[in-house]
Amino acid sequence: MTNKLKKAIVNKIIIRDMENADINFVVNLGNKTKELWVSNELRFLIDRNTLKRWIKYKEDDELLVAEIANKPVGFSLTRVDYKTAEIVFIAVDKKFRKMGIGTRLLQETIRRLRKKGVIKFYLYVQSYNKRAINFYRKMKFKKGPLCYFMYKGW
Ligand SMILES: CC(C)(COP(=O)(O)OP(=O)(O)OC[C@H]1O[C@@H](n2cnc3c(N)ncnc32)[C@H](O)[C@@H]1OP(=O)(O)O)[C@@H](O)C(=O)NCCC(=O)NCCS
Repeated sequence: MTNKLKKAIVNKIIIRDMENADINFVVNLGNKTKELWVSNELRFLIDRNTLKRWIKYKEDDELLVAEIANKPVGFSLTRVDYKTAEIVFIAVDKKFRKMGIGTRLLQETIRRLRKKGVIKFYLYVQSYNKRAINFYRKMKFKKGPLCYFMYKGW
């Protein structure tokens, strides 16, 4: 894809609040995006009912969708606890990556939350996920301690 075409696409991106009508898109994209899985067993933790409930009771959390020509192409889910926010999940449809959509989602999340008084942002990313690590580095996130991810579920 040429830079000109990319730019034309980026100019058409709209970042907006997630709605119930986006639930299928978000859960489907999460299910096919391995980088968001907890494990091969538990996969993407957010199912339709969980997301529906989160949208309803989100309070200060920012649940955003990126869309182009009325078609959702990416999402971000950010949880807020007073002045601190965790970027829980962010994903862009494979066909639309490397066009600045992830950046727009993250910038909008940070812009909105700073207005609400949030001053600290953090996130966890799997150590093999160099693409996402680069992405967050470019957004000026610094590296914290390496962690073990542990889980339990049935
Ligand atoms: C991480 C992700 C959200 C980035 O979205 P995106 O829309 O492709 O990102 P952008 O186009 O805004 O890229 C911004 C910067 O991130 C870095 N980046 C993005 N994709 C990259 C890649 N494939 N390789 C290296 N760096 C990359 C670059 O620094 C890029 O800046 P540049 O285009 O000037 O080089 C996307 O790759 C994705 O959905 N990955 C799968 C899910 C995931 O890993 N989520 C994060 C963990 S929660």
